[in-house]
Amino acid sequence: MPWNVKPSATTRIQQPPKPYLTKEMRDRYAAEILPRYEKKQGALMPILNDVQHRYRCVPPAAMVEIAQFLEITPADVLDTASFYEEYTTEPTGEFVIAICQSVACELCEHEVILNHLRRKLDVEPHETTDDGRFTLLTLECLGSCDTAPVALVNETLHENLTIEKIDEIIDGLPAKAPTTTRHKPKRQNVRRSK
Ligand code: FES
Repeated sequence: MPWNVKPSATTRIQQPPKPYLTKEMRDRYAAEILPRYEKKQGALMPILNDVQHRYRCVPPAAMVEIAQFLEITPADVLDTASFYEEYTTEPTGEFVIAICQSVACELCEHEVILNHLRRKLDVEPHETTDDGRFTLLTLECLGSCDTAPVALVNETLHENLTIEKIDEIIDGLPAKAPTTTRHKPKRQNVRRSK
C-alpha cells in the first residue's frame, strides 16, 4: 500500500497556494460528470481519476476540496482513494509501470518480471525512481488473463511479457510522457500495445 498510517486526528493538511480544483475543473465536473449520477457522491471516482491524472497524485488538500465539492466528508473521499492502489498522495513518476499480480499472471510468473524491474529501476513496488521517471506498482487483474503476464505502462497494456519485452518497452520510452498518456487509472482508458 502506498499509504502510511498516520495519526490523522492530529495531522495538519498543508494548504496549497492555489486550489487543486480550478474553476475550469469544477465547471466541467458540474456540466459533464455530475449529471451522470443520481447522487453527487457517485461522481467521486471520475473526479479522483481526473485529479490523479492532472496532478499525478491526490494530495490530502485535494481530497478536502473534492469533499466540499461533492458535499460529502473528507473521510468518505479518503476511504475510496485509499482503497485503490492507483491513487497516490505523492506525485507518481512520468511513467507508471503497473504489473498485474492476480492469479493468471501469478501462474505465468509475473514475479520474474517484477523482480527484474525492481533490480533494473532500483525501486520497490509503490516507489518512484530518484529521477522521477518511473513509478513501479502492482495491481489486481487487468482483464487480460489470456495474455498473462501483463502490465500497464501509463495507459498502454502490454501482454505476454518477458524480460526482453519489458526491457524493450522501457528502454524505448521518451524522456517525458505526453500528457495524454500519463497514468490515467480508468480501466476503460486502457489501450493494447501493438
Ligand atoms: S490475472 Fe493478470 S490480467 Fe487477469
